[in-house]
Amino acid sequence: MEPATEHIVVRRSGPLLGEVTVPGAKNSVLKLMAASLLTDGVTTLTNVPDIADVAIMGDLLSAIGVTAEWQSTEDRVLRLTNHGALTPVAPYELVERIRASINVLGPLLTRCGTVRLSLPGGDDFGSRPIDMHMSGLEAMGATFQIRHGYVEATADRLHGANVTFDFPSVGATENILTAAVFAKGTTVIDNAAREPEIGDLCQFLVEMGADIEGVGSSKLVVHGVERGSLRPVVHEVVPDRIQAATYMAAAGVTGGEIRLRNAHSEHMEMLLRRFGDMGLGITAQEGGIGVWAPARMRATDVATLPYPGIATDYKPLVVTMLTVAEGVGIVTENLYPGRFRYVEELQRLGADISTDGHHAVVRGVPHLSGAPVRAPDIRAGAALVVAGLAAEGETVIGGVHHIDRGYDDLVGRLRSLGADIERRPAV
Ligand code: UD1
Repeated sequence: MEPATEHIVVRRSGPLLGEVTVPGAKNSVLKLMAASLLTDGVTTLTNVPDIADVAIMGDLLSAIGVTAEWQSTEDRVLRLTNHGALTPVAPYELVERIRASINVLGPLLTRCGTVRLSLPGGDDFGSRPIDMHMSGLEAMGATFQIRHGYVEATADRLHGANVTFDFPSVGATENILTAAVFAKGTTVIDNAAREPEIGDLCQFLVEMGADIEGVGSSKLVVHGVERGSLRPVVHEVVPDRIQAATYMAAAGVTGGEIRLRNAHSEHMEMLLRRFGDMGLGITAQEGGIGVWAPARMRATDVATLPYPGIATDYKPLVVTMLTVAEGVGIVTENLYPGRFRYVEELQRLGADISTDGHHAVVRGVPHLSGAPVRAPDIRAGAALVVAGLAAEGETVIGGVHHIDRGYDDLVGRLRSLGADIERRPAV
């Protein structure tokens, strides 16, 4: 990771007020970019977040043979030009930087018949193997070798298969789905992940000419079409439910009242129910969500689960909200046991949290107290920013490059709602 050149400096802020537009989802756009490998020509994505991971995925695609360029950063339109002559190799220097680089595996294998991909990196919050990706593709006729840190996959032409996951893995569902698009015959993915970002990928593939049934359900049926039969399309990226939740959390800890433009409440139902338990007023509105927070929230218990359960990515935000809520809340992590690293940073801000394995017990305090802290990953970094809004004095957050990986102008958007926050050169 590159050294931090800037810090985010946050001071305790009064109620956040106003309206903010939620950008497109990181966890969708990166997969759509990878899926553009499936067709020659110019794919146009709109509502693309201006984040570092999009640039990294762009670099990876350009090494493979697809040029990614902004048509307009102001309008958030990205053009992906696939020249047809692809080099199906994903080098270490790029792959180690984002987990989503694994998403080129399915499209490259089904289109080129061979792929050489460095084993992926991503956030450092626990082991993230790719065994389900590989066993699903093996069932479809692929063979794998792991040599010198690279996965090498080959399959002249994949064939349809029944793939049943032990666990609804997001990345494995996406790779089997994209690989199945050109496979001979029908592929059935059972216990598929159902995240809205997967629905977005399915919709994108269908618009391109893929034949997929069961979109939005845990059973996806893909009837393979001929290689070369997809066409490039213009597609709008689904709004980012995690960024939306971040602004809700910021309203929550400041007792604010905000409106989120371009947010889909139906993608966040379980979380919104919990926020309701904590005393937040939530209203689904035409094209957005209205959020009203009480002077002090109430504690509640929260457990993470695959969608439609409460996403693990929301958890640092929920823990942060509980640190200043009235009462005691227990948070249980069911996906990544190691994902409590940011707790030590919150403790530096005066939070009363104890962890035991998969559980965190959070005892609310009236307010936190500002200190220097470090963002350990994207979501935890954003949670520290939210914590800083409820902390007396100044909270100086390092590791800002993590936040920039997934947040499109978090500081500017929070400022527009009245937050006392700025970016400052690191000295
Ligand atoms: C995606 C999201 C990430 C989110 C996660 C769970 C992206 C870029 N990232 O990650 O933000 O936190 O979904 O909602 O979209 N597993 C295996 N073997 C596999 C695949 C996964 O054991 O082959 C395990 C992982 O180690 C982890 C769990 O399954 O414990 C969830 O992984 P998965 O759903 O695949 O998440 P990602 O696609 O990596």
